[in-house]
Amino acid sequence: MTDVTAVILAAGEGKRMKSERPKVLHEICGRPLLGHVLATLENLCTDKILVIGHGAAEVEAAFGRSVRYAIQEEQLGTGHAVMQAAPQLSGRGEVMILCGDTPLLSRETLAGLLKEHRRTAAVATVLTAIVPNPFGYGKIIRSVSGALEKIVEEKDASDQEKTIAEINTGTYVFAAEALLDVLKRLSNKNFQGEYYLTDCIALLIDKGLRVSSFCLEDYRHALGVNDRSQLAQAAFLLRQQINQRLMISGVTMVDPATTYVDIDVRVGPDTTLFPNTTLLGSVEVGKGCIIGPNTEIKDSIIGDGVTVRHSVLSGCILADNVTVGPFAQLRPETVLRQGVKVGNFVEIKKSDIGNNCKIPHLSYVGDAQVGSHANLGAGTIVVNYDGQEKHCTVIGEQAFVGCNSNLVAPVTIGKGAFVAAGSTITKDVPPGALSLARAKQVNKDGMAARFIETRKSDDFC
Ligand code: UD1
Ligand code: CA
Repeated sequence: MTDVTAVILAAGEGKRMKSERPKVLHEICGRPLLGHVLATLENLCTDKILVIGHGAAEVEAAFGRSVRYAIQEEQLGTGHAVMQAAPQLSGRGEVMILCGDTPLLSRETLAGLLKEHRRTAAVATVLTAIVPNPFGYGKIIRSVSGALEKIVEEKDASDQEKTIAEINTGTYVFAAEALLDVLKRLSNKNFQGEYYLTDCIALLIDKGLRVSSFCLEDYRHALGVNDRSQLAQAAFLLRQQINQRLMISGVTMVDPATTYVDIDVRVGPDTTLFPNTTLLGSVEVGKGCIIGPNTEIKDSIIGDGVTVRHSVLSGCILADNVTVGPFAQLRPETVLRQGVKVGNFVEIKKSDIGNNCKIPHLSYVGDAQVGSHANLGAGTIVVNYDGQEKHCTVIGEQAFVGCNSNLVAPVTIGKGAFVAAGSTITKDVPPGALSLARAKQVNKDGMAARFIETRKSDDFC
């Protein structure tokens, strides 16, 4: 089989984004635009060359050694961009050219384009689309017999040409030698003063060579992202695809329109995602879970049968049958083992909470290791920070910490120990001990009247 070299154009500044970040690094559904293009190309080509220029260092840092690079120092147009990759193309078979800002094309489409190119034995094949609003795209000009003649850019098009609905998606397959030959003959005598890659098509046709076209089935996949509005449109379309795929695989979405799931997220069957649930980055959710409403989970692993309601989680591992929320925040390096219950207004950070522990209300737990079946009463605070350093706390299994206690780290509460409510614990509590660390209560008989008499009875309501 012929080798296929993919050249992805990603050197442009993306002026219309009005951004400090290179356009192709803007993200949709948790992955940069360019990352989507590269993922689609996986297993379709033998080699990938990224043409970079504007923000080259940032782009190179994002993709590292997974691809080869060609540098375009000055952005003089898409044709000029491909010229920079030319030294790496001679002697190669087929060259697939794609824009780094067109993230929605599917693998099936690209495979179809290659197939059509080979079936028609063409030297070049253009991927086109028929769109309801062709504004901004290069227009496909055909003869009366329907034969492809050339591509005319929006800014160079006549009023009549501007109304043509068939557009260039910016995606092509070329025979390497034919491409290298016409690239040398591109001129920049056009409205934008750029070397247009699109002009290669007319140059090949003028030489009497066969140029084919392949029309996209779903025109929405042609969307090129040039501004923030198109970025939102692309994210919207991709989100629909992701949600559709999950629902078909057995996930219930109460309201797909308000369910935001990144591309690298996996969700098991019989899990229900309630409205306003956002799953970001790399998240794995098991079977039979209830997630949301109003929940954000980032880079976490969630077991089976887990409930997370109205909460924010990042960098966590939750084992099976854990319950979280409402209104909890679980920060990075939190591990909740089987059957743990974390209730309302609880924050946990970098802590390992043993099987079946309960932290039901109003607690902060940081840098702690908690044994199984421990119970932290309402308002338990782990005092992990002395203003300079973080310290660790160990709570033994089956320990019971009474309400409103402070555990001042570093400290260990022994296995099965009992901390009386309202204690401030600064020393280790031995296993099985009862620890009281609060001011002793004093009752003065009859003295309440001294305070109560001075107030008007109205105050007591
Ligand atoms: C381009 C096509 C247009 C097509 C549209 C599809 C040309 C002349 N026009 O227009 O026919 O309908 O894509 O979305 O090819 N780039 C470089 N170096 C440059 C200029 C651009 O690497 O000097 C890269 C950009 O980073 C971008 C891609 O090429 O990823 C397309 O450039 P852009 O300026 O967005 O072209 P369009 O005007 O959208
Ligand atoms: Ca574009």
